[in-house]
Amino acid sequence: MEKPYLVVIHGPNLNRLGVRKPETYGTQTLDDVISLVRSVADGYGLDVLDKQSNHEGDLIDFLQLHGPGAAGILINPGAFGHYSYAIRDCLEDIARPTVEVHISNVHQREPFRHQLVLGDVVMGQVVGLGTEGYRYAADALCRRYRKDAAQLR
Ligand code: DQA
Repeated sequence: MEKPYLVVIHGPNLNRLGVRKPETYGTQTLDDVISLVRSVADGYGLDVLDKQSNHEGDLIDFLQLHGPGAAGILINPGAFGHYSYAIRDCLEDIARPTVEVHISNVHQREPFRHQLVLGDVVMGQVVGLGTEGYRYAADALCRRYRKDAAQLR
């Protein structure tokens, strides 16, 4: 049997993490963040399958392919989080436990960032805690998986 895995999704411009607006998003790179998630997941015996894309459809294709078999989904949709009903519908369809992360506190920023359209289809949201937010999100997903797996036994 293959090892259970978390799917980790990053939306547009997050390939620039560590370089883009460090005063807002910090100095950690995308690789640093993936390593952090990997270290949390590893502690629970889970693998990580990650995808970053600047293209909405690529993220949906990846989610449709790997989401249904995932233990959980961690997503920082970037700006898509404010308006992508297509990603929202995809997550609703996949129906796996999902945690949305935003590094910055989007509610303290421009008004267009206050709306988060994935809110009703995710288990929870971690907003404004910097890249440490990924640790909490990954931990919450792993614990949820452990609990669900125990109930199936
Ligand atoms: C972000 C917040 C979004 O508003 C922005 O478009 C991003 C990053 C965050 O992690 O704080 O690209 O998702």
